Amino acid sequence: MGLINTGPGITRPEYDRKTELIAFDQTKTGVKGLVDSGITQVPRIFHLPYPENINSDQTSGSKPTLPTIDLEGINEDSIKRNEVIEKLKNALENWGFFQVVNHGIPIDILEDVKKGILGFFEQDTDVKKQWYSRDVSGKSRVLYNSNFDLYSAPVTNWRDSFYCIMAPDPPQPHELPLPCRDIWPEYSNRMMKLGCCVFELISEALGLDPNHLFDMGCVEGLALLAHYYPSCPQPELTIGTPNHTDNDFITILLQDHVGGLQVFYENQWIDVPPIPGALVVNVGDLLQLITNDKFVSSQHKVLANKIGPRVSLASFFTTGIIPTMKVFEPIKELVSEDNPAKYRGTTVKEYGNYYREKGLDGTSALLHFRI
Ligand code: OGA
Ligand code: NI
Repeated sequence: MGLINTGPGITRPEYDRKTELIAFDQTKTGVKGLVDSGITQVPRIFHLPYPENINSDQTSGSKPTLPTIDLEGINEDSIKRNEVIEKLKNALENWGFFQVVNHGIPIDILEDVKKGILGFFEQDTDVKKQWYSRDVSGKSRVLYNSNFDLYSAPVTNWRDSFYCIMAPDPPQPHELPLPCRDIWPEYSNRMMKLGCCVFELISEALGLDPNHLFDMGCVEGLALLAHYYPSCPQPELTIGTPNHTDNDFITILLQDHVGGLQVFYENQWIDVPPIPGALVVNVGDLLQLITNDKFVSSQHKVLANKIGPRVSLASFFTTGIIPTMKVFEPIKELVSEDNPAKYRGTTVKEYGNYYREKGLDGTSALLHFRI
């Protein structure tokens, strides 16, 4: 693969990576554009630098299964609610992840959301290109691009994405691409309701008042990030999304039937299997920070796949790039003399800026904020 070793852990490709990245960026058609052009080999900007194939799994035997939590009846039946809170507490302490069913968002809405994402990425190229941007100043409401960290990450990912901030300040209809214009606002409203319910349960699981996290502002912002993972001719050479943690409070993910999402648990990668109608909930770095490491923001990744496209929609509970002055720090009730605050306070924007500039390089942005 032609890597020059320049010191411990640092390798430098023998080619002019920057020029190839610029050329790729300028097509404005992302990874899908490459696949549509008929390539049969993965270009080298996408190659993983590691000598071993990190996609191959050598472990045998049965693996742990990610918990699934059923929200049916939790508002009517206090016994059920307490059982759910106990299960959720275990899931967030150990996995940082779980799947949720009977969450209240009807299946036909989930189907329409997936159709809208396919519709966006598979629309006429000239129309789609108009949305292509890397401007994170907040001027453009919708950002479509391939690899938000194209120029900072060590490996380009087999994935195109588009992003829109839906709350606290929802977009005007014309600001949303046509295939998502009706369904994204509908989905966001329902996602906000589900988010409120999940943050109530999380607050209770922390032994706090049900409104605690809501009152802190954890449900103020919602950003939707849609991903399109095209079919990959040589999936073992590259990655859809490399291992990372999320930079929000929680993420609620809708994935389609293809699969490939994995979470790192007890030193191994565990599949997050697609379950029709289910959503995946995971702890983000900011929830780990305010819970002083009680709940863990786990590493996860998406494998590249011959089967594709795969689509997913991540709902990030965060105010993202919107400037707010609110400082988040470990919750007073969760720290004590024996368990002092492990993090300094930060704003959502400061955290996000640091995370974005660093890119998905396999290290946690949280370390930068540790005391
Ligand atoms: C993310 C993410 C997983 C997926 O957007 O942070 O982890 O399945 N997405 O696309
Ligand atoms: Ni993620």
